[in-house]
Order: sequence, then structure tokens, then C-alpha cells
Amino acid sequence: MSDEPLILGIETSCDETGVGIVRGHTLLADAVASSVDEHARFGGVVPEVASRAHLEAMVPTIERACETAGIVLTDVDAIAVTSGPGLAGALMVGVAAAKALAVGLDKPIYGVNHLAAHVAVDQLEHGPLPEPCLAMLVSGGHSSLLRVTDVTGQHGGVDPLGATIDDAAGEAFDKVARLLGLPFPGGPHIDRAAREGDSVYVDFPRGLTARRDLERHRFDFSFSGLKTAVARWVEARERSGEPVPVNDVAASFQEAVCDVLTRKAIDAAVTEGIDHILIGGGVAANSRLRVLAEERAAARGIRVRVPRPGLCTDNGAMVAALGSEMVARGRTPSRLDLPADSSQPVTEVLV
Ligand code: KG4
Ligand code: ZN
Repeated sequence: MSDEPLILGIETSCDETGVGIVRGHTLLADAVASSVDEHARFGGVVPEVASRAHLEAMVPTIERACETAGIVLTDVDAIAVTSGPGLAGALMVGVAAAKALAVGLDKPIYGVNHLAAHVAVDQLEHGPLPEPCLAMLVSGGHSSLLRVTDVTGQHGGVDPLGATIDDAAGEAFDKVARLLGLPFPGGPHIDRAAREGDSVYVDFPRGLTARRDLERHRFDFSFSGLKTAVARWVEARERSGEPVPVNDVAASFQEAVCDVLTRKAIDAAVTEGIDHILIGGGVAANSRLRVLAEERAAARGIRVRVPRPGLCTDNGAMVAALGSEMVARGRTPSRLDLPADSSQPVTEVLV
């Protein structure tokens, strides 16, 4: 067996209890328990419900991961955990579990940034990360463009170029799905409906792409105007008594989101002289986003890397992957009293 260190990663920033186990860059287990069904009737994640679900799922998920990886806990060389950003109560469950393991096993602990973990996970599938790379992270909680020169965050290694100024991309998918009567979380349902729809049926607005916005917000996103535009359009159609063409609206909305995301990511990469774009977060599972990003990047000589959908949504493997990188690059572990920080800045990769 390889003598590379064995890392166990814990993720509880939102509604997925994830426990991943990696050895070096090799993924051994990725156990995920999701409380998404418990939030569905509220149309969004309820923090208290998520925290309680993490508590219940933590031990069984750790056990399942160890079993899949064929290891026992005493084999583990280091623990990594998402310390932030995310829901405060949810993060606390993961951080407490990680501390308990670190103390019980007498092993180092690394409190890591959730966003950097979304970037690091790609190494498990596509090998060492090209650095620098331009990372676009799009999920229910975040939409960011990052210049990554060192995924462990050394020497300003994760540099934010832009972010959403209102809703996250996934949040827009979820809210628009709700308007269209589709279940939560809306992204996969819109993706599916859009395949049967006409993406030029409605010309929805492209947020922060007008010339006057580009000066201050060139690499920032805004999706709340788009969501309102869809709401207005649907209301008007309902008032007219005609049926709402759900597939066409879904396709037109999705096209507006993917158009802006890919345009800005490629603009950022070209401006920064970076020839690799990495897309992560739940929205990276979107089929149209993948195709459009590939197409537009190829035209500019840029390579796109997107982890498989199961590694794009929140999971423990991504945390283990970043923890593994911390160990490989000799980073000093976190203190045992590390905090859960719901608003941990993206530049703070290791606490
Ligand atoms: O990364 P993630 O699992 O959790 C966080 O929010 O951190 O992302 C979940 C988000 C949800 O908003 C969901 O609607 C969206 O990712 N999503 C998608 C797709 N699959 C998941 N959005 C668009 N297309 C998809 N196929
Ligand atoms: Zn996430």
C-alpha cells in the first residue's frame, strides 16, 4: 500500500453531511447524507433542521466512509474539516466532530475553507491542479471567480476577483424553479425542463454586463434582477390566462445564467493570462453550463476542468482533498480550539 498520508475530511457547511477519505490524490470513500428532503417543503435550507440532521448523520456517515475505504479510524493520519463559510450551527457540528476525532486519535486537524475545498477536489479526478487557474464556484450559497495560485492559500494563493452582489447562481435556479412550480432544489429540474425548451423564447436580462457596470463590477455577478424578470414574465402570462411554457422559460432563464457565467469567467481568465478554468459547486453540474463553457473556452485556447457532478455538490471528499494538499505542502495544522466561522473569507484557506 502507498505510504502517502491518509486524510479524513468532514463537511457540514450546509445540508450535506459529508465524510471523505483520501490517500494522497486517491479517493477511497465519499459518504454523503443529505437532509435536502427535509427542507424541500420550505423551498430552502432551514438552518436548525440542517444542524440537527448533521448531528444524527455524523457517526453513521463516518462509519460508512471507513467501511467503504476499508480502513479503521486509527489508520487516519490527519483530520480536515470545513471551518467556514456556511451555516453557523451546521459548521459547529462538523468542527466538533473533527476535534473529537483529532483528540481521540491524537492526530493533527486542519480547519479549511469550503470554497478552496471545491477547487481542490478536482485533483481527485483530473490530477494535479494547474496553478495558476481561474476557479468559478457556483452553488446555492456562493458565486465567485477566484485566481488560484496556491490552493492551500499560501502567499495570497486564493485571490477573489469577483462574486455575486446579491443572489448566488444556485439560489437563482432554486427561486426560479419555485416560480415555475418545480421542486426544490430547482437546479436539476430546470436543467431537465430546459432540454425540452427553447432558450431564445424569452430574452431575459444578463446582470452586470452593461458597459456602465463593467467598470466597477466586471467580474461580479447579479442574479436577483433576472429572477425578478422571470417572475414578472410569468405573472403577466398567468394574468393573460395563457399557460406558462415552463420548458421554454426554464431554457431561457438557464441560458441567461450560463451566458453571464461563462462570459465573465473567460474574460477573467484572458485578462489574468490564465489558460485553465475550473468550475465547481452544485451549479457546475448544469449540462448547459458545461457545454457553453467548453465551447467558449476552446475558442480562446483555454482548457476547462469540471469535476463529475457528485464531486461538484458539497461532499467530504473535497475537504479531505484540501486537507491532503495541506499535509503535502507542509502547512502547519490548525489549533485544537479552531473556530467555526460562518463568514470565513475566501482568502483564509486554513484557520
Ligand atoms: O454546492 P451545493 O451542493 O451546495 C451549496 O449550495 O453549497 O449546490 C447546490 C445548488 C442548488 O442551488 C442546486 O439547485 C444547484 O446547486 N444545482 C444545479 C444543478 N444541480 C444542482 N443548478 C443548475 N443545474 C443543475 N444541474
Ligand atoms: Zn458548496
